[in-house]
Amino acid sequence: MHRARPRGTVQGRERDTHLAREFSPESGFDNFSDYPGYFDYFDYFDYSLDSFFGSCFNLFVTSRMIVARNLTQRYPGTLERGPLTVLSGVDLHIERAEVVVVLGPSGSGKTTLLGLLAGLDRPTEGGVTLDGVELSQLDENGRASLRAESLGFVFQNFQLIPTLTALENVLVPLELLPKGRRLDSAAAQRRATELLSRVGLESRTGHYPAELSGGEQQRVGIARAFANEPKILFADEPTGNLDRETGHEVADLLFALNRERDTTLVIVSHDLELSQRAGRTVHLNAGRIERIEQVERTERDKQPST
Ligand SMILES: Nc1ncnc2c1ncn2[C@@H]1O[C@H](COP(=O)(O)OP(=O)(O)OP(=O)(O)O)[C@@H](O)[C@H]1O
Ligand SMILES: [Mg+2]
Repeated sequence: MHRARPRGTVQGRERDTHLAREFSPESGFDNFSDYPGYFDYFDYFDYSLDSFFGSCFNLFVTSRMIVARNLTQRYPGTLERGPLTVLSGVDLHIERAEVVVVLGPSGSGKTTLLGLLAGLDRPTEGGVTLDGVELSQLDENGRASLRAESLGFVFQNFQLIPTLTALENVLVPLELLPKGRRLDSAAAQRRATELLSRVGLESRTGHYPAELSGGEQQRVGIARAFANEPKILFADEPTGNLDRETGHEVADLLFALNRERDTTLVIVSHDLELSQRAGRTVHLNAGRIERIEQVERTERDKQPST
């Protein structure tokens, strides 16, 4: 049973404990002091300046939002099995406001690639630049701050915090926003509620993840990823657990974010609708880029579907 406590509030210590536990494997957060909320203000200011100048450089010199160079991920072997290379020499440039869909067979490295691009994991070799910021130059705090401020991530396995309600899960990124962008409590509640209703969950805001179906949990994950109005949204099979109609609505939501806010979208998906509406598709096979295709579209296809 869940402990009784006021609904609609994410309680500080409890939230941090669960964030530490839930996000740690993929986020690289090892302890409380890794969280953006615990930043020394001046460290954050330094980082913001770097980020600001990096962004200016990026704005004037290139419109590239994501640059991956020779990305390679290798896992050390054990007594039973040798080392495993799951991603090998991936070079990829993604423009500002571009929509890219990553395709490939199970085990081809799609989730691994997304995790590296978002700075959730560190590559064995190679590097990633996001909006002019070289990830390898940032420590854990810097990368956590970049994620909190600029990135959204829809996890393939949802990664909702089990002891928080749907609404509280969506509120988490809003609480991690830097001071200048943080909303007051009423505005944060409004935004989280509105996002949940945009994914059709207005009647489930007080439900805990265990009380939600897989598709409903996935939609909470999508609402959470939208909450900080990210510059780049990474989505790992965001429609994988949804029926056709709901998947279609989620696709519309993703493309609306892209259109209205110039959000760069990197989506792992086998959903034909998503890949047909993307700008390019990147085909991975056995950890390598097999080919990249420009998606031919008619004017009609580019319009939001109704
Ligand atoms: N921590 C790890 N240690 C060892 N091998 C790993 C680890 N994480 C992933 N792998 C291996 O890396 C390969 C790629 O995994 P990844 O999750 O990126 O595949 P995927 O393309 O997303 O697959 P799916 O479509 O099934 O989600 C898999 O063969 C997996 O077993
Ligand atoms: Mg995967």
